[in-house]
Amino acid sequence: MKILVVGSGGREHALAWKLAQSERVQMVYVAPGNGGTALDARLKNINITDLHELAAFVESEHIALTVVGPETPLAGGIVNLFRARGLKVFGPTREAAQLESSKDFAKAFMQRHGIPTAEYQTFSDVKLAHAYVDAKGAPIVIKADGLAAGKGVVVALTLEEAHQAVDHMLADNRFGDAGARIVIEEFLAGEEASFIVMCDGKNILPLATSQDHKRLQDADQGPNTGGMGAYSPAPIVTPAMHARVMREIINPTIAGMHKDGIPFTGFLYAGLMIDAAGNPKTLEFNCRMGDPETQPIMARLKTDLLTVMEHAVNGTLDAVELEWDRRTAVGVVLAAAGYPDSPVKGDIIDGIPAETPESVTFHAGTADVEGKLVTSGGRVLCVVGLGDSIKMAQKQAYESVDKIHFDGMQYRSDIGWRGLKH
Ligand code: AMP
Ligand code: GLY
Repeated sequence: MKILVVGSGGREHALAWKLAQSERVQMVYVAPGNGGTALDARLKNINITDLHELAAFVESEHIALTVVGPETPLAGGIVNLFRARGLKVFGPTREAAQLESSKDFAKAFMQRHGIPTAEYQTFSDVKLAHAYVDAKGAPIVIKADGLAAGKGVVVALTLEEAHQAVDHMLADNRFGDAGARIVIEEFLAGEEASFIVMCDGKNILPLATSQDHKRLQDADQGPNTGGMGAYSPAPIVTPAMHARVMREIINPTIAGMHKDGIPFTGFLYAGLMIDAAGNPKTLEFNCRMGDPETQPIMARLKTDLLTVMEHAVNGTLDAVELEWDRRTAVGVVLAAAGYPDSPVKGDIIDGIPAETPESVTFHAGTADVEGKLVTSGGRVLCVVGLGDSIKMAQKQAYESVDKIHFDGMQYRSDIGWRGLKH
């Protein structure tokens, strides 16, 4: 069988790597892929991003199944288009992807269906937005309504920051259409976790739990990033917490989408904030897998991913039970100098160790230029280590990290630290 993975990040490398392990898979195409997917003999990059051209490629190559990584093609309707042409694809329709592509849609949906989330209001008028900020006080959170590549959220600790964020989004149009409306919401304190499930429209299959590290520097200091590392499982999600999140958040979301006439198919990612008393609330939905959460999660998945995907697109996910490596996986992101604002590109990358049962390195912002591997994006690599405890997994990951070099390489040295406190 031939499979297509759409995207170019570490998430897509991990998905393609896992799919390629299936005995029934002959080739995994990655569109457009990266330096790592270019180097792997079982994977093949294709340089197509236009959705109609992709569909035509899938038809001409007789690709059996397409898995979509990032939110942009999903919000652009790749699933609608592929389905209309009779092609098997795993992901949400454009309509269902609104859970991520419109914060206002997601918040109104959660309110309507009684799903716990921060109190909020939506604004397109600058004056009313400023007045609401003043009425609520700081800390307060300002979010661009649309997709903003992870940059559309400002957690304002002071009123000044909050007013500035309102002006940037609504008055200065920093995010274009994506910021023409903003959601202003209550600041939630607590510990975050990533709760990701697969859904076929009706049946829900939870993946292993994980936790991201959004801040650039150790101990969660510095600016927000796309994610500097992740580990799985996340001990904060105890079996009792897992059951509660399913009951209060995931099940009502899938049922609510069904009821609203927009059945959800694909990966559903609930970003959770769990307060000190142990109450989970939904910070956001993503309609895709997390990056870098996917990397440690795929490193732990033992079940054949192709079989799972087939059930997912055929509406029979209830027939699947996932088997996980009992070890912990810690994934450390190696980022380029200047990340997240203005990453430096074009530096030569050396020393990536060969895959072992204890460690695997997934590529993200890398390119294969005339046989040389160079940096080509902000998050360059994600180095995953596996071990019987978080500490042992960290040791594996950082031993591999120590072998890798590129100019200006920056990474956190504490991935997994919150897990060590539980
Ligand atoms: P989002 O894209 O909505 O997940 O926001 C990005 C990050 O901003 C989250 O991972 C949180 O760290 C933070 N954040 C978002 N909403 C809130 C909130 N209501 N209270 C506190 N932090 C938040
Ligand atoms: N790791 C956070 C995200 O994928 O949105």
